[in-house]
Amino acid sequence: MLRVVNEEKITIRSDNDNPFLNGIFKPNSKEYDADTDSLEVIGEIPRDLWGVYVRNTHNQIHEPLGTYHPFDGDAMMHSAFFEDGRMEYRNRFVHTIGFLAEKAAGRALWPGLLEPHNSTYRGWGAIGAMKDNAGTDVICHNGKLLVTMSQGSEPWRMDPVTLENFGPDPQLARAVYRDGIAGEFKVDSKTGEMVFQNYPEDPPCIRVGTVDKTGKLTRYEQFDLPAARWPHDLGMTENYLVLHDLPQFFDPEGLAKGERHLKFYPDLPSRFGVIPRRGEVGEVMWFEATPCFMLHTANYYEDGDEIVMDGCISLDPAGPAVGEGGDVNAKIMSHLDKHKTMTRLHRWRFNLSTGKTSEEFLDQEVVEFPVCSNSVLGYPYRYAYCSLFEPGQWLMNGIKKYDLETGDTDRFEYGPNRYGGEVHFAKRENSVAEDDGYLIVFIQDMELDRSECAVFDAQRLADGPVCQIILPERIQTGTHACWVEGQRLTGECV
Ligand SMILES: [Fe+2]
Repeated sequence: MLRVVNEEKITIRSDNDNPFLNGIFKPNSKEYDADTDSLEVIGEIPRDLWGVYVRNTHNQIHEPLGTYHPFDGDAMMHSAFFEDGRMEYRNRFVHTIGFLAEKAAGRALWPGLLEPHNSTYRGWGAIGAMKDNAGTDVICHNGKLLVTMSQGSEPWRMDPVTLENFGPDPQLARAVYRDGIAGEFKVDSKTGEMVFQNYPEDPPCIRVGTVDKTGKLTRYEQFDLPAARWPHDLGMTENYLVLHDLPQFFDPEGLAKGERHLKFYPDLPSRFGVIPRRGEVGEVMWFEATPCFMLHTANYYEDGDEIVMDGCISLDPAGPAVGEGGDVNAKIMSHLDKHKTMTRLHRWRFNLSTGKTSEEFLDQEVVEFPVCSNSVLGYPYRYAYCSLFEPGQWLMNGIKKYDLETGDTDRFEYGPNRYGGEVHFAKRENSVAEDDGYLIVFIQDMELDRSECAVFDAQRLADGPVCQIILPERIQTGTHACWVEGQRLTGECV
């Protein structure tokens, strides 16, 4: 089976040389159904691998209105479904209202992340003026994918294997309304609950929701912030949630005039708010920490009186301001270059008895997009898997595995001109250890002008992939991904 099931008309001008719309960022227009009866397979697909790896991408279709940011593109999902030593590949656009409205118009209707003040239509996200591109994150809960953009989307649902568009989740959509659901949601594998957040500018707050294993919203609460903030992650342990209030946010003077200039305030502490997951919330217990900006965490867990948070910290996230002259794309790249922001794996400990925070670097090498096994998310764990980054670029060039108990690491670099996305861990059927399974990632080979789905033995990462499945065409570099165990394809298994 290898067929094109749909093709969207790309209206980006042929002379548009924006680096974030060309090369590895070049958008895809075709939607495929394919399987390993028709795709080249190098190596052997493990027979004890069952489930689906899904990756989101920002895949712009229309000539942008104003400055294009690589987080503006329309969501296209790519899935690799493994069962019985075979793989099925599919890719589909996410049919958000924004996507359908622009498709009907045949052109872009909303400006992007950097120019929301030029929007003539009411939009979505914390800013309330962006197209709902749904291109940031993806997770599976209660048997359906949930895909969103990081600033908050309507809660779009899709089938995890066929990628059929189901539209917004009705109950969640009514509850969150325009504030939407931000990326970085979490599923507790032991209770089947999902937690999520949004962070509307007006009123300045974080709202946090809990959805039970059957998809029912059981809790949705608001926590006030001093002013509009731009958090990214939401922490979850067995008994607590962790809110982020970081000293990188829109300059308040500009914001009062409707302008949004993201600034880092190194004299303000980072703050992390701990609230119980169940029962009365009471007061948020805020912990102060080193001024920083951070996007992603490997995991959070409880250790006695302490909550441990492992994530990737940048102590110097400020880049040149975008919008004040100069090469705008070079400035965007400067913000995204993890070597410039020196983003490294870090551990915070929040002591619930003393109210004190302690911190330490876990490594000095630049990494980001840390993940752990779904089965230990929110609980004590041993292994984290991160992506390595190409200096000067926003491109992932390898995987680094951390044994947080022994301090040992393992790594694999994809090779020259080969770049991946967020890697995820897939447990082997009947696994006997936390890292007894596979690491899966889509890799773009710019020399061969093709993409592949690569599968690694997580206990022998340095040996390289155990199999590589060549995709029908080179796909756009992406953002977040997830692994959905075969047992969870129809619902949470608790
Ligand atoms: Fe993210």
